[in-house]
Amino acid sequence: MPPRAHPHLLDLPILPIGESSAPGTKRIIPLANNEATEPPSAAAQDAARKAMAVANFYPSVTHSELKQAIAAAYDVDPAGVVCGNGSSEIIALLAQAYAGLGDEVIIGRHGYLYFSICARMAGAAPVYAVSSGDANHLSFGLQAALDAVTPKTRIVFLDNPCNPLGTYVSRDDLWAFRGKLPEDVLLVIDGAYADYATAEDFDPGDGLVLAGKNTVVLRTFSKIYGLAGLRVGWAHAPASVVEVLNKVMRPGNLSGVSLAASEAAVKEQDVVAGRRETNQRVRDAFAASLEADLGYTVLPSQSNFLLVTPPAGASKNAAALYQGLMAEGVLVRPMGPYQLPDSLRISVGTEEEMGIALDAIKKVEGV
Ligand SMILES: Cc1ncc(COP(=O)(O)O)c(C=O)c1O
Repeated sequence: MPPRAHPHLLDLPILPIGESSAPGTKRIIPLANNEATEPPSAAAQDAARKAMAVANFYPSVTHSELKQAIAAAYDVDPAGVVCGNGSSEIIALLAQAYAGLGDEVIIGRHGYLYFSICARMAGAAPVYAVSSGDANHLSFGLQAALDAVTPKTRIVFLDNPCNPLGTYVSRDDLWAFRGKLPEDVLLVIDGAYADYATAEDFDPGDGLVLAGKNTVVLRTFSKIYGLAGLRVGWAHAPASVVEVLNKVMRPGNLSGVSLAASEAAVKEQDVVAGRRETNQRVRDAFAASLEADLGYTVLPSQSNFLLVTPPAGASKNAAALYQGLMAEGVLVRPMGPYQLPDSLRISVGTEEEMGIALDAIKKVEGV
């Protein structure tokens, strides 16, 4: 008889990931995973090479140099920073630490799928905030999340900007939302894409952490820093949460190479600012072309991706467009698993890559 896993784990889904290859195509345009399509900066690569030369030793388990560098770049107290093997490790640990069997975890209708997987891994029930006021549910339903709160609620996961929508919750709405949530419910603001946000009223939420509002902010090196392959993320959290995370975190969760490269990268805020500006310019030009040339609906994005919906009369629906683009080597993400089967999520690559993607869409659509 095989060993028995906990029953609540048996029907757990596996997080869907985007395609990374398309057989028979000459060149891949990788727009399925919201990665930076440019390589890590020269300084990050150099730091990684140097760390590799001393990889016979265990890495730092306190991550203190990386925490200092993050704290300086983001103007936070290093004692409030916890580093994880990608922010996904911290999402899983927060769910495990703060929710369990019989508890509930509130998640946006179209929020990041890993939130619900982590809630279920912890034995808790994911509860989706379905916003009744918005027919398309195309933003995080703040009121719906408040309506979903019960005495069993332990955590609200709010990705801001939201993946896969790209939309964001404003500073005023964020603070008002926290104010209305019961105090003992942990609000986890996942800012995986916050480095791309340029809206005046965007607020990553660190003020809520400092104001003692039982709030955690998550960040990652996988997006604007271009280090997805090295798996580094961090939390900015109140002291009580830092203490718990440090207890449940696996010692040595980050390799020396990952620590060195991310420390070098976070010290280059001019590079980050340049990437943010380029992303905005390339993203908005691509969105404008999809709207003007093809009549697509494109949600306003504060991220490095766009949620794109062909009009009802387009020659290809989202599924056919996805297949057609794959045949051209342009890899994007189908949105069925996010309950948006009529849409595709397209990451923002370089200007050249987005030009190729646009031409491929026109070719597939026969425009
Ligand atoms: C909203 C959101 N949070 C977290 C992550 C995970 O990032 P990491 O690579 O830091 O684990 C992703 C990855 O795509 C994401 O979209």
